[in-house]
Amino acid sequence: MIFVKNGPLKGCVTVPGDKSISHRAVMFGALANGTTEITNFLHGADCLSTIRCFRQLGIEINNQASSDTVTILGKGLYGLRKPDQTLDVGNSGTTMRLISGILCGQDFAVTLTGDESIRRRPMGRIIAPLKQMGADIESAMSNHCAPLLINCTADKMSNLNDMLTGIRYQSPVASAQVKSCILLAGLYAEGETSVTEPYISRNHTELMLSQFGAAIRTKGNTVTILPGPYLEGRKISVPGDISSAAYFIAAGLMVPNSEVLIKNVGINPTRDGMLKVCKQMGADLTLDNIRDDGGEPVADIVVRHSELKGIEIGGDIIPTLIDEIPMISILACFAKGKTVIKDASELKVKESNRIDVMVENLTKMGADITATEDGMIINGGKPLHGATIESKLDHRIAMSFAVAALMAEGDTEILNAECVDISYPNFYTDLKKLYQSH
Ligand code: S3P
Repeated sequence: MIFVKNGPLKGCVTVPGDKSISHRAVMFGALANGTTEITNFLHGADCLSTIRCFRQLGIEINNQASSDTVTILGKGLYGLRKPDQTLDVGNSGTTMRLISGILCGQDFAVTLTGDESIRRRPMGRIIAPLKQMGADIESAMSNHCAPLLINCTADKMSNLNDMLTGIRYQSPVASAQVKSCILLAGLYAEGETSVTEPYISRNHTELMLSQFGAAIRTKGNTVTILPGPYLEGRKISVPGDISSAAYFIAAGLMVPNSEVLIKNVGINPTRDGMLKVCKQMGADLTLDNIRDDGGEPVADIVVRHSELKGIEIGGDIIPTLIDEIPMISILACFAKGKTVIKDASELKVKESNRIDVMVENLTKMGADITATEDGMIINGGKPLHGATIESKLDHRIAMSFAVAALMAEGDTEILNAECVDISYPNFYTDLKKLYQSH
């Protein structure tokens, strides 16, 4: 797909539902008793993978393409049935890691796989703690990656009571997928299960599971869950995804004379690092109409073109903006001075190696950017020109460069641009509307 310099961006956009929250709503609805009705569900390929897997596990899910409401007929913690086939999570790390925790609590064997990218991503980070809990979970190729073989039937359990055992896990990484996986296994364990993270990662599991009726408490960087709750189906309204809003925030700030209103965006403090970073860089960004939407804070965001300055980004803010770093690194190309992004080595194990892919592509466009062990250094101010961009089938890379293209001289060609389907199927149409509607 070819993109050219364009702008200004004017007007209003409503981003689709949050990906992390949509996944969890399906999963927890399946484990609850009775009906869960999800509004503003994200119909991206990743969340559809979660729906497909839970259907294979015997859950009735009503999902009409014409509506953004999804209904789950939950069967309780022990209501899943053995699937006829291997479960395929597609490109979705959240599906793979969270469902693994749930499947370790089931009395049937199952195999989990996914696409080429997911089969390269590290699963040792969930295999190790799940094994400590007594689960029988193996990497089929013994390479700490999927396919994963899970067999927690009674004769395979290492605990004499046929149950998982609660653990106190000190996670080496700040990862909501790892944390959530262990907490979900904790629903099926004997005794308490707790996870301590080096920095706090997104807390949607904690917030939503407790609304369904689970006993969860958070103290500092430690989350603890009690087993065997009675979970009850409920209504869930999914806020707009701040990770999708990030592209319009950046575009509004970068392109001269732009002013964009982004409506109904989730601003959970474990996700709002991009807003803080933009403000620190000097952005004209305001939050209006701040409200609570079913336990998650939500706001409308107004951004106007701004002169930005480079800053240092690292430490505990990183998990709160981890998916926005590709976009932030492009923003830094238009800021005055140097931006240093550090403590972000997790970027190497996302849908692509996002440090290498950003540095390679931005270098092709003329940026002054260097990869480091745990991030990148960008010297802003060099004009960008069009180039051929390898998205590596990574949705966040494709969307970030569609925004960069608005500021680049000449054609920018994005290869496999359709991969935005993973989290934002209408992204290009929504972006275009902002520069064509005036
Ligand atoms: C997610 C957690 C993050 C994030 C991913 C979604 C989640 O991954 O990058 O897009 O829904 O829990 P990690 O937990 O691996 O950091």
